[in-house]
Amino acid sequence: MTKKTSNTMWGGRFAAGPDAIMEAINASIGFDQRMASQDIEGSRAHAAMLAATGILTDSDADAIREGLLTVLSEIEGGTFQFSTALEDIHMNVESRLKEIIGEPAGRLHTGRSRNDQVATDFKLWVRDQFDAAEAGLIALIQALLGQAEAGADWVMPGFTHLQTAQPVTWGHHMMAYVEMFGRDLSRVRDARKRMNESPLGAAALAGTSFPIDRHMTAEALGFDRPSANSLDAVSDRDFALDFLSVASITAMHLSRFAEELVIWSSAQFRFVTLSDRFSTGSSIMPQKKNPDAAELIRAKVGRIYGANTGLMMVMKGLPLAYSKDMQEDKEQVFDAADSWMLAMAAMEGMVKDMTANRDSLKGAAGSGFSTATDLADWLVRVLGMPFRDAHHVTGTLVALAESKDCDLPDLTLEDMKSAHEHITNEVFDVLGVQNSVDSRMSYGGTAPAQVRIQVQRWKDILK
Ligand code: ARG
Repeated sequence: MTKKTSNTMWGGRFAAGPDAIMEAINASIGFDQRMASQDIEGSRAHAAMLAATGILTDSDADAIREGLLTVLSEIEGGTFQFSTALEDIHMNVESRLKEIIGEPAGRLHTGRSRNDQVATDFKLWVRDQFDAAEAGLIALIQALLGQAEAGADWVMPGFTHLQTAQPVTWGHHMMAYVEMFGRDLSRVRDARKRMNESPLGAAALAGTSFPIDRHMTAEALGFDRPSANSLDAVSDRDFALDFLSVASITAMHLSRFAEELVIWSSAQFRFVTLSDRFSTGSSIMPQKKNPDAAELIRAKVGRIYGANTGLMMVMKGLPLAYSKDMQEDKEQVFDAADSWMLAMAAMEGMVKDMTANRDSLKGAAGSGFSTATDLADWLVRVLGMPFRDAHHVTGTLVALAESKDCDLPDLTLEDMKSAHEHITNEVFDVLGVQNSVDSRMSYGGTAPAQVRIQVQRWKDILK
């Protein structure tokens, strides 16, 4: 419902209301209503401060507080009528407050502006999402630790170039992702700490002549301190970009893992079986069980990168301080946050439910001459050969095995001696995959004993 009168919030100098198209491009209420509770929280803190500093009477502040709670319950109860003519969440709330409590509502905006108000609301919203991301990452890490602990000694092929390289353990592979998501967790915590300064009271851009107490509102809203420069406070969106950057890096990790799960669950690999709960069927091919969750995680990542790039583009040309361009910050962050949280939850669910196919993993671990490095290491260790020479000798044995269409352990001692006369029967001990992984006891290596040390370390960290 478009009122063709001028806007009651700012229309004093206007004779006519906005064109319908102006209203459509200007309004943010369609999306910024997601910040309703943050807006009301910020207003309550501001009103309490205005009363404490004697800028508002206690009775006005009481009326505002009660009225804001009524507005909040209307919004939460779904009875609130959002109006496009009132542009955004800030003016929708204030206008309804006026209907409920009358004149004192008009005093709430003393010593503040929508510029510091929106920055405050958005920061509170993003801060909650950092907290949700932290919880999501911890849950995902715990799911990975469960897999790693169960499969600390299950052998599988390790790859480089997606070509079989050396045998590793299932637990070791799971723990690689624990390290990645662990760094993401620390990035989330860093960014949350960095952003936790209150813009409230920066007002339009220059601060205010009212004797406000910005430390009081900062504390009431759980911020560590008020931001120190009012121009910066109203025009900074670094916190949202930090959020999207951290989201982007986490999403990259999620996407790599999702890609592995797509490959691993294929009939060609059969490394894992995803649970029915996290797979879908085909409407035409009855035999199919598709890794849709993994594929969608991989795709959600594109939306997150889009948001990150999009907000960078919105911000990069803006002179100080606030410009309306900045209203375009929210939808992208909302969408990225939803995508991120959902992708993490889906990954956690898949990881918890999936079953490693130990036989397939083991079979694949031994193929592709995966213990060639162990053979070369044996030549160095036992025969004292320089590694380069050992590499060469091993290479000729790999070529021999390939020509005989067999694996390295299937070669005879005579075959071995044809490459180097001093090779003994002992060499066959190091060609088994279990032996190979057990021997990789260097710190952070794939040996089950090392994997268990790292699982325990992470359990302690998360305690
Ligand atoms: N809806 C606006 C936004 O999201 C609120 C701030 C409006 N400020 C202004 N000076 N017009 O950015």
